[in-house]
Amino acid sequence: MNFKTYSSEWVALVDAGIEQSLNHYRKTASQRFAPLIEAMEYSLSGGGKRFRPMLTLATAQCLGIDPQEVLPAALAVEYIHTYSLIHDDLPALDDDDTRRGKPSSHKKFGEAVAILAGDALLTEAFGLLGRLQEQKKFSPAHVLSALDLLVSAAGVRGLVGGQFIDITLEQTQFNLPEVEFIHIHKTGAMIVASVLLPARLSGLDEKNSLLLKRYGSALGLAFQISDDILDAQSSGRYARGPRKKARPAYSELMNRAEMQDLLDQLIQTAIESVEPWGDKSQALRDIAEFIRHRKY
Ligand code: IPE
Ligand code: IPE
Ligand code: MG
Ligand code: MG
Repeated sequence: MNFKTYSSEWVALVDAGIEQSLNHYRKTASQRFAPLIEAMEYSLSGGGKRFRPMLTLATAQCLGIDPQEVLPAALAVEYIHTYSLIHDDLPALDDDDTRRGKPSSHKKFGEAVAILAGDALLTEAFGLLGRLQEQKKFSPAHVLSALDLLVSAAGVRGLVGGQFIDITLEQTQFNLPEVEFIHIHKTGAMIVASVLLPARLSGLDEKNSLLLKRYGSALGLAFQISDDILDAQSSGRYARGPRKKARPAYSELMNRAEMQDLLDQLIQTAIESVEPWGDKSQALRDIAEFIRHRKY
């Protein structure tokens, strides 16, 4: 099966999982919370690429686990990613009026509801992952280890820490080590976690986990560079209105050819890291190639 076929199957699996989880909240929560769930749904189904959950499903396949079995973990990373975008667009942070070509959450629902929709998504993400225990496919100790990994990636040691530096760093302080530090935390940590969750859930040994971590770290930085390349070209991307704030990005420090060189090196590192798995790592390698060439 080629990448286009199975990636669209996986995206459909993630979309269906999201819909199912939202229906579960609709059924089990008070009817009065319906507008909050609608705000969660607006951002969850706003046309995201599903890049992080795809990584979780692809790692499962690489490790010989049925991707369907790790779906709640894949949904958890998408929930956290979605919350992070809602909060990132708020006036107090990036103050962006649009996201994926549509009004950002606070423009559509108001700031208070946007903040609460983000809070709900972040919290429910851990519920989704934790409930994997009920399925008895993974041991309680392994589910706890996966939860611990997600906490580190999403919290002060990961995404939130990275966002803190991103938002507080003065433009005069933009330099390569700082930009890399921000990206490793703000974006990279959740990408590494997306890759490593199936490793934690299945109790993979340290040596092989380190190879997957190397893949995720290289891909995380590569993803950010490809994002900066896309941002620097105005074409092919969602119309997103003028940026109100300067952002620490590779494009502030490197020219296009240098960014492309670094991107190629990182993609090569990612691909080499998972070669020991042979055919089973084909999806992980295809995803890396997708990042090298992506246009959206
Ligand atoms: C956007 O991430 C934010 C960054 C970390 C650069 P994505 O490009 O994965 O966002 P969607 O979900 O596909 O819109
Ligand atoms: C998005 O980051 C949020 C996180 C990575 C947590 P950015 O502010 O760099 O990306 P866009 O441009 O809003 O998607
Ligand atoms: Mg930001
Ligand atoms: Mg932003």
